[in-house]
Amino acid sequence: MSEHKSNPVRLSDYLPPDYAVDHVDLVFELSPRDARVTSRLTVRRNGDHARPLWLDGDELRLESVAIDGETLASERFEVDERGMSIPDVPGAFELTVVNRVDPVDNTALDGLYQSSGNFCTQCEPEGFRRITFFPDRPDVLSRYRVTLIADREECPVLLSNGNPVDQRDLGDGRHQAVWEDPHPKPSYLFALVAGKLEAIHDRFTTASGREVELGIYVEPHNIDRCDHAMRSLIKSMRWDEDTYGREYDLDVFNIVAVDDFNMGAMENKGLNIFNSKFILARAETATDADYDGIESVVAHEYFHNWSGNRVTCRDWFQLSLKEGFTVFRDQEFSSDVGSAAVKRIEEVNLLRQVQFAEDAGPQAHPVQPKEYEQINNFYTATVYNKGAEVVRMWRNLLGWDRFRAGSDRYFERFDGQAVTIEDFIETMAEQADFDTAQFRRWYDRAGTPIVHVSKTQANGEVRVTFEQEVPAVAGQEDRDPFLMPMRVAAFDGRGKPLPLDESGTAEKTLVLRESRTSFTFPVAEDIDRVVLSLNRGFTAPVKIEHDYDADDLALLARADSDEFNRWDAYQRLVIKTLVDRIRQARETGECSDEELPEGLSAAFGSLLHAAGGDSDARFVAECLTMPSEPYIAEQFERDVPVDAIHQARVRLREQLANEWSQSLMLVYEKQEVDGSYEYNGEDVGRRALRAQALACLNALDHPAWRRLAVEQIASTDNMTERFNALSALCVRESEERDQALEQFARDWADDPLVMDKWLSLRARIVAPDDTDTLAELEAHPAFSIRNPNRVRSLVGVFSRANPVAFHAASGSGYRWVADKIIEIDGFNPQISARLATVFSRWRRYDGARADLMTEQMQRMLDRPDCSTDLAEIVGKALR
Ligand code: BES
Ligand code: ZN
Repeated sequence: MSEHKSNPVRLSDYLPPDYAVDHVDLVFELSPRDARVTSRLTVRRNGDHARPLWLDGDELRLESVAIDGETLASERFEVDERGMSIPDVPGAFELTVVNRVDPVDNTALDGLYQSSGNFCTQCEPEGFRRITFFPDRPDVLSRYRVTLIADREECPVLLSNGNPVDQRDLGDGRHQAVWEDPHPKPSYLFALVAGKLEAIHDRFTTASGREVELGIYVEPHNIDRCDHAMRSLIKSMRWDEDTYGREYDLDVFNIVAVDDFNMGAMENKGLNIFNSKFILARAETATDADYDGIESVVAHEYFHNWSGNRVTCRDWFQLSLKEGFTVFRDQEFSSDVGSAAVKRIEEVNLLRQVQFAEDAGPQAHPVQPKEYEQINNFYTATVYNKGAEVVRMWRNLLGWDRFRAGSDRYFERFDGQAVTIEDFIETMAEQADFDTAQFRRWYDRAGTPIVHVSKTQANGEVRVTFEQEVPAVAGQEDRDPFLMPMRVAAFDGRGKPLPLDESGTAEKTLVLRESRTSFTFPVAEDIDRVVLSLNRGFTAPVKIEHDYDADDLALLARADSDEFNRWDAYQRLVIKTLVDRIRQARETGECSDEELPEGLSAAFGSLLHAAGGDSDARFVAECLTMPSEPYIAEQFERDVPVDAIHQARVRLREQLANEWSQSLMLVYEKQEVDGSYEYNGEDVGRRALRAQALACLNALDHPAWRRLAVEQIASTDNMTERFNALSALCVRESEERDQALEQFARDWADDPLVMDKWLSLRARIVAPDDTDTLAELEAHPAFSIRNPNRVRSLVGVFSRANPVAFHAASGSGYRWVADKIIEIDGFNPQISARLATVFSRWRRYDGARADLMTEQMQRMLDRPDCSTDLAEIVGKALR
């Protein structure tokens, strides 16, 4: 076995930087294989010490180093594969470093690289050291001046952070642009872009009257796909002023879309760089979901200008300070401009499916991690989404006004500084009347708390008892309770809300602090049935255990006044039905799915009925969406019955469709959208609901429903309806499905983002052990292993959304995915490590599968050239 020494960075080892860099002057002479970087740093010793100056540097070709204009002889400094050390430096000086990099060879897409022949950068968290030598840590804040020099023909557009201050021709076929950013920033927010790009422009006037020039830059053939992103940007700017009192602070705000990008997007100061997936949209090529994604990612990166850029992180252990807060901000933005209930459902779905799973496995870590080997591996659902839930709890515990006051204080106090989660907590704590030391546990402890709720009724009183179970997590000894807001209500047997006290209030937010908390409310003697609505709106990121029977859930699904809980009750009802069926089949060896449960069927029917009324179509569509197979799998602690889950889900959907086909057809007809495509709440809702109806009908093996889908594909003007119909056809195997898929691939062969949709549909329906099809997809011109979006669409979707094939008993799915991971690890470790997390849950599967999964992980690890990124993920999974 090869050696992968773990050498973690620890939060407890933090020391302030030895040297400050007040000013950075960068000159880039751009060329594809040999870009030259001249960096002039104004350096100042921090405190009284004689330690050498340390500069991080990764894969750089050093040309020269000079102090105050004097070139240093090679014995005056030391360079190794991690950086450069210069002893005996003066207290204050100017350091000039010249080095070269190869953007074309940069396949990790980290640092300065090329995408579609254009230059771009990605520096967070540690990419700047792949551009030039620098103390590449977020607590070194500097003012930047950047000069870009490039061939005029090849790179007509030259962009960097801040404001443009000069642009001129150099006479030799080259030109140059100078950018200056007045706001001190950490190196991870540096960016440059140079290439053949076109832009759309707009303007925004801030509340205090600053005129901002907005630009969105894309490859010329995409210029007709930028309008939605621009509208989203303007909405976000307005919202942050209205909601948080935060204004923009430069004369320009530019966004660039690139095709090759490891993540979704990046908040570089004044120059956001985006994965083109989160910018480009027009009706013919993008779905409603794409439009939603663009709106929220544009908002997220824009909101970072305050929560991240003006106030940044001291070190990467504080990542959730900017990401958790900013995710919360973008969630609330989306909720304000769209459907609040639907947005909340989507958030909780993601939290439960991804974060809860992470928190229950070998990659579990607190919102503020205490150590890491590769910081890139900590851009996780825990840091992002649980982090956002923790901010949401602050909001719910303080109320909006005090939360906003705390936020104002935070921005005011720490503007221009690199701070910690502790600083955020202390500022918010000034507004609080509860024990914030206890609340801090949310940042320090991994694992999802379980709240067991029981209820007794006697002598005109209902007593509800909440018991916290703090999960066992390796390395976490204490099991003390958390402080959490818990919103509750209660209903009688006919679904009427019950008053919770004398004043008649129908809803309360309790604050749970103890391991065991009770709460009582009076109830009339003649009320013999009380149904609790718990954790309404999902106020606490916990699992609720309560002894609901199917009738209780059906009642809540129909009558709960909290839309989120109505959805949740329905989902629980479906899951309960599925899990009961699977368990019974396992015990008796017989299928127990003859009878469609009355309550579930009725609840399904009343949802369809509601769809005929004036209820939010998109909400109904969410309710009709069956829980995913991976989420159902989460209900099993061990020996996940992969195939039984799939079959039970298919069967239940078929039964519901069979029972309700007439109503489904009526909904499908009634929700048709007139006129041409528009992205607005009502139309999006109608399309979503029709999509569910059509998919449900296609659970039945009947040519009429397939014809409906085929006709929708032929007649629509937009990608949403085309893709929805194609997805509906993919519910079962058929001639029509195969033809439609082929046609789609022919029609959209030249559009990579559209072909990603096709790749992911194909990946979802690959049959177990069908390695020929996997080979065919891999060789398809639409696929490229070098492009992260393509890889996520094929390999990511196959491994996460096609559990039956990924977990094929032969191990063929594991082997194919591991082959891809190993290949990708050779050129882009961030992507290989992320893909590999799918193997982390191996302990939940039966012995044979667990062996096959660990065998593949061992194979990844046993390579002499396994990246530290991948080794950290796999090493933890196996330990
Ligand atoms: N700062 C991140 C982008 C990032 C993360 C760059 C890790 C490099 C490494 C950005 O603000 C972000 O969080 N983007 C998310 C999307 C967002 C809407 C949650 C992403 O890229 O997935
Ligand atoms: Zn972010």
